[in-house]
Amino acid sequence: MKNKSLVSIDDYTKEDYLRILDKAAYFEANPVQNILTGKVVATLFFEPSTRTRLSFESAVNKLGGKIIGFTDASSSSVQKGESLKDTIKTVANYSDLIVMRHPIEGSARYASEVSKVPVVNAGDGANQHPTQTLLDMYSIRKTQGKLEDLNIFLVGDLKYGRTVHSLLMAMSHFNPTFNFISPESLKMPKEYKLFLEKKGIKYYEHEDFTEYIKEADIVYMTRVQKERFSDPIEYEKVKDVYILRNEMLEGTKDNLRVLHPLPRVNEINVDVDNNPKAYYFDQALNGVYTRQAIISSILDL
Ligand code: CP
Repeated sequence: MKNKSLVSIDDYTKEDYLRILDKAAYFEANPVQNILTGKVVATLFFEPSTRTRLSFESAVNKLGGKIIGFTDASSSSVQKGESLKDTIKTVANYSDLIVMRHPIEGSARYASEVSKVPVVNAGDGANQHPTQTLLDMYSIRKTQGKLEDLNIFLVGDLKYGRTVHSLLMAMSHFNPTFNFISPESLKMPKEYKLFLEKKGIKYYEHEDFTEYIKEADIVYMTRVQKERFSDPIEYEKVKDVYILRNEMLEGTKDNLRVLHPLPRVNEINVDVDNNPKAYYFDQALNGVYTRQAIISSILDL
């Protein structure tokens, strides 16, 4: 992990995941440390974000480091036509680590190849969101007491949802059973299903989940991402297909927790928020500890 970029969740091994999760637990117990004194972390967000950017910035602040960056590329020289390569090479001169979100798949890998400092992928298009996955795993382990042998329901936009792609790959190390719930047009892409088949991991696909939810340990809801659709009519057709309501949680397993990377639009009704099985805001808090663990591991602190 030392000085190594984190672009895809499979840049890390199972042992790396467990090391990060243990370190995150340490930061949850000891959140304020001065181990980043003198270090600068750049956050370059070419796409909007609330949780990822602010939890990274909170993590750096709690560790005593400094933040530079932009929240909107239109305020940078990208607006004047500067290339991603030149932007990254320049920012790498000013920082010890770059955290980048970008709409183009593969942009984070490219940035890591031209940067002299490590790059952390904070989401590249519909591809990967590895730091979200590590905080999801932290949330799963914390609520279930284990990562192994869980029945995980992934619900909503499984085609463009980068969080479910990264989570599927990481959890495949822990013998899960997956249930994919999506409309036909937003099904889990073939390459991820082939990946599971090669590893002998069981998965099932359904269009409706009310019938099956009683078997779930984790229900991972996702937003249908308007910004990934070129045809607004196609978005309108599927945007409200799955709405989790409080009454649907009656009779579910005691250990069931509802996760969502957030932001949500309509897919979790607000009447779920006060149900003890709703975990998505705690999940967002876990992002601070997990990102403290990721930054300190990469910078070898
Ligand atoms: N989960 C997540 O990536 O949220 P933001 O888009 O607010 O960063």
